[in-house]
Amino acid sequence: MSVFENLETLKSEALLQINAASDLSTLNDKRVEYLGKKGPITDVMKQMKDLSNEDKPKLGAAVNIVKSAIEDAIEAKKVELEAAEIGAKLAKETIDVTLPATKRTKGSRHILTQTREEIEDIFIGMGYSVENGYEIESDNYNFERMNLPKNHPARDMQDTFYITPETLFRTHTSPVQARVMEKHDFTKGALKMIAPGKVYRRDTDDATHSHQFMQIEGLVIDKGIAMSDLKGTLDHLIKKMFGAEREIRLRPSFFPFTEPSVEVDISCFACGGEGCRVCKHTGWIEILGGGMVHPKVLEMSGIDPETYTGFAFGIGVERVAMLRFGINDIRGFYQNDVRFTNQFK
Ligand code: DAH
Repeated sequence: MSVFENLETLKSEALLQINAASDLSTLNDKRVEYLGKKGPITDVMKQMKDLSNEDKPKLGAAVNIVKSAIEDAIEAKKVELEAAEIGAKLAKETIDVTLPATKRTKGSRHILTQTREEIEDIFIGMGYSVENGYEIESDNYNFERMNLPKNHPARDMQDTFYITPETLFRTHTSPVQARVMEKHDFTKGALKMIAPGKVYRRDTDDATHSHQFMQIEGLVIDKGIAMSDLKGTLDHLIKKMFGAEREIRLRPSFFPFTEPSVEVDISCFACGGEGCRVCKHTGWIEILGGGMVHPKVLEMSGIDPETYTGFAFGIGVERVAMLRFGINDIRGFYQNDVRFTNQFK
Protein backbone atom coordinates (compact mmCIF):
# COMPACT_ATOMS: atom_id res chain seq x y z
CA MET A 1 0.00 0.00 0.00
CA SER A 2 1.34 3.38 -0.93
CA VAL A 3 1.79 6.07 1.66
CA PHE A 4 -1.04 8.00 -0.03
CA GLU A 5 -3.37 5.11 0.41
CA ASN A 6 -2.30 4.79 4.03
CA LEU A 7 -3.15 8.41 4.53
CA GLU A 8 -6.64 7.94 3.12
CA THR A 9 -7.30 4.95 5.39
CA LEU A 10 -6.00 6.96 8.32
CA LYS A 11 -8.36 9.80 7.49
CA SER A 12 -11.48 7.67 7.22
CA GLU A 13 -10.63 5.82 10.40
CA ALA A 14 -10.03 9.07 12.27
CA LEU A 15 -13.30 10.61 11.05
CA LEU A 16 -15.20 7.49 12.05
CA GLN A 17 -13.76 7.49 15.55
CA ILE A 18 -14.29 11.22 16.00
CA ASN A 19 -17.90 10.88 15.02
CA ALA A 20 -18.31 8.00 17.41
CA ALA A 21 -16.97 9.98 20.40
CA SER A 22 -19.76 10.14 23.00
CA ASP A 23 -18.35 12.84 25.24
CA LEU A 24 -15.92 15.74 25.24
CA SER A 25 -13.16 13.91 27.07
CA THR A 26 -13.12 11.02 24.57
CA LEU A 27 -13.08 13.59 21.80
CA ASN A 28 -10.04 15.23 23.33
CA ASP A 29 -8.28 11.86 23.54
CA LYS A 30 -8.88 11.43 19.82
CA ARG A 31 -7.39 14.83 19.11
CA VAL A 32 -4.19 13.86 20.93
CA GLU A 33 -4.18 10.44 19.32
CA TYR A 34 -4.42 11.66 15.72
CA LEU A 35 -2.89 15.12 15.73
CA GLY A 36 -0.30 14.71 18.54
CA LYS A 37 3.46 14.55 17.92
CA LYS A 38 3.53 10.76 18.38
CA GLY A 39 0.50 10.17 16.20
CA PRO A 40 0.08 8.40 12.84
CA ILE A 41 0.41 11.60 10.82
CA THR A 42 3.91 12.10 12.17
CA ASP A 43 4.62 8.52 11.08
CA VAL A 44 3.39 9.28 7.59
CA MET A 45 5.61 12.36 7.41
CA LYS A 46 8.61 10.23 8.35
CA GLN A 47 8.07 8.25 5.13
CA MET A 48 8.54 11.42 3.07
CA LYS A 49 12.28 10.79 2.70
CA ASP A 50 11.58 7.61 0.68
CA LEU A 51 9.52 9.39 -1.95
CA SER A 52 10.61 10.84 -5.24
CA ASN A 53 11.21 14.57 -5.44
CA GLU A 54 8.06 14.85 -7.47
CA ASP A 55 5.91 13.07 -4.83
CA LYS A 56 7.34 14.80 -1.77
CA PRO A 57 5.33 18.05 -2.10
CA LYS A 58 2.23 16.05 -3.06
CA LEU A 59 2.46 14.15 0.21
CA GLY A 60 2.91 17.45 2.13
CA ALA A 61 -0.25 18.83 0.54
CA ALA A 62 -2.20 15.62 1.15
CA VAL A 63 -1.16 15.55 4.81
CA ASN A 64 -2.35 19.13 5.26
CA ILE A 65 -5.72 18.34 3.76
CA VAL A 66 -6.15 15.30 6.03
CA LYS A 67 -5.06 17.31 9.06
CA SER A 68 -7.60 20.03 8.44
CA ALA A 69 -10.33 17.47 7.71
CA ILE A 70 -9.62 15.89 11.11
CA GLU A 71 -9.51 19.31 12.84
CA ASP A 72 -12.82 20.33 11.24
CA ALA A 73 -14.42 17.07 12.26
CA ILE A 74 -13.22 17.50 15.84
CA GLU A 75 -14.54 21.07 15.97
CA ALA A 76 -17.94 20.09 14.58
CA LYS A 77 -18.21 17.18 17.01
CA LYS A 78 -17.21 19.44 19.88
CA VAL A 79 -20.03 21.88 19.14
CA GLU A 80 -22.47 18.99 18.94
CA LEU A 81 -21.33 17.41 22.22
CA GLU A 82 -21.40 20.75 24.08
CA ALA A 83 -24.96 21.41 22.98
CA ALA A 84 -25.97 17.92 24.07
CA GLU A 85 -24.33 18.46 27.44
CA ILE A 86 -26.25 21.73 28.06
CA GLY A 87 -29.46 20.05 26.95
CA ALA A 88 -28.91 17.19 29.39
CA LYS A 89 -28.14 19.62 32.22
CA LEU A 90 -31.30 21.66 31.55
CA ALA A 91 -33.42 18.54 31.42
CA LYS A 92 -32.00 17.40 34.76
CA GLU A 93 -32.63 20.79 36.40
CA THR A 94 -36.21 21.17 35.30
CA ILE A 95 -38.42 22.34 38.18
CA ASP A 96 -41.65 20.55 38.80
CA VAL A 97 -43.97 23.52 39.34
CA THR A 98 -46.80 21.24 40.39
CA LEU A 99 -45.02 20.26 43.63
CA PRO A 100 -46.55 21.90 46.72
CA ALA A 101 -44.45 24.92 47.80
CA THR A 102 -42.84 25.33 51.20
CA LYS A 103 -45.07 27.73 53.08
CA ARG A 104 -43.33 30.89 54.17
CA THR A 105 -44.78 32.66 57.17
CA LYS A 106 -44.84 36.40 56.76
CA GLY A 107 -44.31 38.72 59.71
CA SER A 108 -46.12 41.98 60.31
CA ARG A 109 -45.77 44.94 62.60
CA HIS A 110 -47.24 44.79 66.08
CA ILE A 111 -50.73 46.20 66.42
CA LEU A 112 -49.45 48.92 68.78
CA THR A 113 -46.86 49.98 66.21
CA GLN A 114 -49.54 49.99 63.51
CA THR A 115 -51.85 52.10 65.69
CA ARG A 116 -49.07 54.54 66.61
CA GLU A 117 -48.05 54.94 62.97
CA GLU A 118 -51.62 55.47 61.88
CA ILE A 119 -52.06 58.27 64.42
CA GLU A 120 -48.68 59.72 63.43
CA ASP A 121 -49.75 59.79 59.78
CA ILE A 122 -52.93 61.70 60.63
CA PHE A 123 -50.93 64.39 62.44
CA ILE A 124 -48.13 64.51 59.89
CA GLY A 125 -50.92 65.21 57.40
CA MET A 126 -51.86 68.28 59.48
CA GLY A 127 -48.27 69.57 59.49
CA TYR A 128 -47.16 68.29 62.90
CA SER A 129 -43.60 67.16 63.61
CA VAL A 130 -42.98 63.85 65.40
CA GLU A 131 -40.71 64.36 68.42
CA ASN A 132 -38.84 62.01 70.71
CA GLY A 133 -38.15 62.44 74.41
CA TYR A 134 -36.51 60.27 77.04
CA GLU A 135 -37.99 57.26 78.79
CA ILE A 136 -35.60 57.94 81.68
CA GLU A 137 -36.56 61.48 82.64
CA SER A 138 -35.73 63.95 85.35
CA ASP A 139 -38.20 64.87 88.09
CA ASN A 140 -37.88 68.39 86.73
CA TYR A 141 -39.21 67.69 83.22
CA ASN A 142 -41.63 64.91 84.17
CA PHE A 143 -43.27 66.83 87.03
CA GLU A 144 -42.03 70.34 87.92
CA ARG A 145 -42.14 71.72 84.41
CA MET A 146 -45.60 70.22 83.96
CA ASN A 147 -46.80 72.24 86.96
CA LEU A 148 -46.65 69.31 89.36
CA PRO A 149 -44.37 70.66 92.11
CA LYS A 150 -42.95 68.37 94.78
CA ASN A 151 -45.69 67.19 97.15
CA HIS A 152 -48.45 68.12 94.70
CA PRO A 153 -51.32 65.68 95.33
CA ALA A 154 -51.74 64.94 91.60
CA ARG A 155 -48.36 63.18 91.73
CA ASP A 156 -50.09 60.37 93.61
CA MET A 157 -51.77 59.13 90.44
CA GLN A 158 -48.42 58.92 88.69
CA ASP A 159 -46.12 57.06 91.02
CA THR A 160 -43.29 55.44 89.13
CA PHE A 161 -39.93 53.65 89.26
CA TYR A 162 -37.18 55.91 90.60
CA ILE A 163 -33.52 55.48 89.72
CA THR A 164 -32.45 58.33 91.99
CA PRO A 165 -34.73 60.77 93.84
CA GLU A 166 -34.39 63.07 90.81
CA THR A 167 -34.33 60.47 87.98
CA LEU A 168 -37.28 58.31 87.08
CA PHE A 169 -39.05 56.31 84.40
CA ARG A 170 -41.33 58.93 82.84
CA THR A 171 -44.97 58.60 83.81
CA HIS A 172 -46.34 60.31 80.71
CA THR A 173 -45.14 61.78 77.40
CA SER A 174 -45.94 65.30 78.63
CA PRO A 175 -42.28 66.14 79.53
CA VAL A 176 -41.56 66.15 75.79
CA GLN A 177 -43.76 69.29 75.67
CA ALA A 178 -41.27 71.17 77.88
CA ARG A 179 -38.25 69.85 76.00
CA VAL A 180 -39.65 71.00 72.65
CA MET A 181 -41.11 74.31 73.91
CA GLU A 182 -37.83 75.55 75.37
CA LYS A 183 -36.06 75.00 72.02
CA HIS A 184 -38.76 76.30 69.69
CA ASP A 185 -38.06 79.35 67.53
CA PHE A 186 -41.40 81.09 66.88
CA THR A 187 -39.92 83.27 64.12
CA LYS A 188 -40.01 80.01 62.10
CA GLY A 189 -43.74 79.52 62.73
CA ALA A 190 -46.13 77.79 65.12
CA LEU A 191 -45.13 74.86 67.31
CA LYS A 192 -47.07 71.76 66.24
CA MET A 193 -45.82 68.45 67.49
CA ILE A 194 -46.75 64.99 68.62
CA ALA A 195 -44.54 62.79 70.79
CA PRO A 196 -45.25 59.05 70.85
CA GLY A 197 -43.54 56.69 73.28
CA LYS A 198 -43.51 54.36 76.23
CA VAL A 199 -44.43 55.52 79.72
CA TYR A 200 -44.29 53.81 83.12
CA ARG A 201 -46.38 53.73 86.28
CA ARG A 202 -46.28 51.87 89.56
CA ASP A 203 -49.35 49.82 88.80
CA THR A 204 -50.59 46.32 89.45
CA ASP A 205 -51.08 44.77 86.03
CA ASP A 206 -54.64 43.67 85.26
CA ALA A 207 -56.96 43.70 82.26
CA THR A 208 -56.87 47.50 81.95
CA HIS A 209 -53.62 48.48 83.73
CA SER A 210 -50.01 47.91 82.85
CA HIS A 211 -46.81 49.20 84.46
CA GLN A 212 -45.68 50.10 80.95
CA PHE A 213 -47.84 51.43 78.15
CA MET A 214 -47.78 53.87 75.25
CA GLN A 215 -48.99 57.42 74.85
CA ILE A 216 -49.01 60.04 72.14
CA GLU A 217 -48.63 63.59 73.36
CA GLY A 218 -49.87 66.48 71.23
CA LEU A 219 -48.98 70.15 71.52
CA VAL A 220 -49.80 73.21 69.43
CA ILE A 221 -48.67 76.72 70.39
CA ASP A 222 -49.07 79.93 68.43
CA LYS A 223 -50.70 83.33 68.69
CA GLY A 224 -54.48 83.00 69.05
CA ILE A 225 -54.81 79.24 69.56
CA ALA A 226 -58.20 78.54 71.15
CA MET A 227 -60.21 75.68 72.60
CA SER A 228 -62.07 75.41 69.28
CA ASP A 229 -58.77 74.45 67.61
CA LEU A 230 -58.36 71.59 70.09
CA LYS A 231 -61.90 70.44 69.45
CA GLY A 232 -61.58 70.60 65.66
CA THR A 233 -58.27 68.75 65.73
CA LEU A 234 -59.53 65.94 67.94
CA ASP A 235 -62.76 65.68 65.96
CA HIS A 236 -60.66 65.13 62.83
CA LEU A 237 -58.51 62.53 64.60
CA ILE A 238 -61.48 60.60 65.97
CA LYS A 239 -63.35 60.56 62.66
CA LYS A 240 -60.23 59.25 60.90
CA MET A 241 -59.64 56.55 63.50
CA PHE A 242 -63.19 55.50 64.35
CA GLY A 243 -65.30 56.51 61.36
CA ALA A 244 -66.86 59.66 59.89
CA GLU A 245 -70.10 59.24 61.88
CA ARG A 246 -68.35 59.59 65.27
CA GLU A 247 -69.02 62.68 67.38
CA ILE A 248 -66.87 63.96 70.21
CA ARG A 249 -67.90 65.44 73.53
CA LEU A 250 -65.72 67.51 75.86
CA ARG A 251 -66.24 67.24 79.62
CA PRO A 252 -64.57 69.49 82.19
CA SER A 253 -61.69 67.78 83.96
CA PHE A 254 -58.45 68.55 85.76
CA PHE A 255 -54.81 68.26 84.76
CA PRO A 256 -52.16 70.43 86.42
CA PHE A 257 -50.62 71.33 83.04
CA THR A 258 -53.80 72.53 81.33
CA GLU A 259 -56.39 75.16 82.21
CA PRO A 260 -59.15 74.58 81.38
CA SER A 261 -58.80 70.80 81.10
CA VAL A 262 -61.11 68.41 79.34
CA GLU A 263 -61.83 64.74 79.12
CA VAL A 264 -62.79 63.76 75.58
CA ASP A 265 -65.45 61.16 74.84
CA ILE A 266 -66.46 59.68 71.48
CA SER A 267 -69.96 58.61 70.60
CA CYS A 268 -70.17 54.84 70.99
CA PHE A 269 -69.17 53.03 67.79
CA ALA A 270 -70.91 49.85 68.94
CA CYS A 271 -74.41 51.27 69.39
CA GLY A 272 -74.09 54.68 67.70
CA GLY A 273 -74.97 56.47 70.96
CA GLU A 274 -78.10 54.57 71.98
CA GLY A 275 -76.43 52.95 74.96
CA CYS A 276 -74.97 49.44 75.16
CA ARG A 277 -72.52 47.27 77.07
CA VAL A 278 -69.44 48.78 75.36
CA CYS A 279 -70.31 52.34 76.47
CA LYS A 280 -71.78 51.21 79.78
CA HIS A 281 -75.17 52.45 78.56
CA THR A 282 -74.07 56.09 78.38
CA GLY A 283 -73.66 56.34 74.62
CA TRP A 284 -70.15 57.77 75.11
CA ILE A 285 -66.68 56.30 75.54
CA GLU A 286 -63.85 58.19 77.22
CA ILE A 287 -60.87 58.31 74.92
CA LEU A 288 -58.31 60.96 75.90
CA GLY A 289 -57.44 64.03 77.98
CA GLY A 290 -56.45 67.50 76.91
CA GLY A 291 -56.85 71.20 77.47
CA MET A 292 -55.36 74.66 77.02
CA VAL A 293 -51.70 74.75 78.06
CA HIS A 294 -51.44 76.27 81.54
CA PRO A 295 -49.83 79.75 81.47
CA LYS A 296 -47.34 78.58 84.11
CA VAL A 297 -46.21 75.71 81.87
CA LEU A 298 -45.62 78.14 79.02
CA GLU A 299 -43.76 80.55 81.29
CA MET A 300 -41.48 77.86 82.73
CA SER A 301 -40.42 77.00 79.17
CA GLY A 302 -39.67 80.62 78.31
CA ILE A 303 -42.85 81.36 76.35
CA ASP A 304 -44.84 84.52 77.12
CA PRO A 305 -48.43 83.46 77.91
CA GLU A 306 -49.65 86.98 77.13
CA THR A 307 -48.55 86.52 73.50
CA TYR A 308 -48.91 82.80 72.94
CA THR A 309 -51.56 80.25 73.80
CA GLY A 310 -51.80 76.57 72.98
CA PHE A 311 -53.56 73.30 73.44
CA ALA A 312 -52.26 69.90 74.46
CA PHE A 313 -53.61 66.39 74.68
CA GLY A 314 -52.51 62.91 75.62
CA ILE A 315 -53.77 59.73 73.96
CA GLY A 316 -53.30 56.19 75.25
CA VAL A 317 -52.28 54.05 72.28
CA GLU A 318 -53.37 50.77 73.90
CA ARG A 319 -56.75 52.27 74.72
CA VAL A 320 -57.31 53.33 71.11
CA ALA A 321 -56.35 49.86 69.83
CA MET A 322 -58.48 48.11 72.48
CA LEU A 323 -61.53 50.16 71.57
CA ARG A 324 -61.06 49.76 67.85
CA PHE A 325 -60.57 46.02 67.87
CA GLY A 326 -62.62 45.05 70.91
CA ILE A 327 -59.54 43.83 72.82
CA ASN A 328 -60.56 43.27 76.42
CA ASP A 329 -57.19 42.59 78.09
CA ILE A 330 -54.26 45.02 77.79
CA ARG A 331 -51.80 42.24 78.66
CA GLY A 332 -52.38 40.69 75.23
CA PHE A 333 -50.23 43.41 73.68
CA TYR A 334 -47.12 42.42 75.59
CA GLN A 335 -47.26 38.63 75.82
CA ASN A 336 -46.13 37.94 72.24
CA ASP A 337 -48.64 35.15 71.86
CA VAL A 338 -48.95 34.61 68.09
CA ARG A 339 -52.60 33.66 68.50
CA PHE A 340 -53.12 37.28 69.59
CA THR A 341 -50.66 39.07 67.32
CA ASN A 342 -51.60 37.11 64.18
CA GLN A 343 -55.09 38.62 64.30
CA PHE A 344 -53.72 42.03 63.34
CA LYS A 345 -51.80 41.36 60.12
N1 DAH B 1 -50.28 63.35 80.76
C1 DAH B 1 -51.64 62.92 80.99
C2 DAH B 1 -51.66 61.53 81.61
O1 DAH B 1 -50.73 60.81 81.43
C3 DAH B 1 -52.41 62.92 79.69
C4 DAH B 1 -52.64 64.31 79.22
C5 DAH B 1 -53.78 64.97 79.60
C6 DAH B 1 -51.70 64.94 78.43
C7 DAH B 1 -54.01 66.27 79.20
C8 DAH B 1 -51.94 66.25 78.01
C9 DAH B 1 -53.10 66.91 78.42
O2 DAH B 1 -51.08 66.91 77.24
O3 DAH B 1 -53.31 68.18 78.03
O4 DAH B 1 -52.61 61.20 82.26
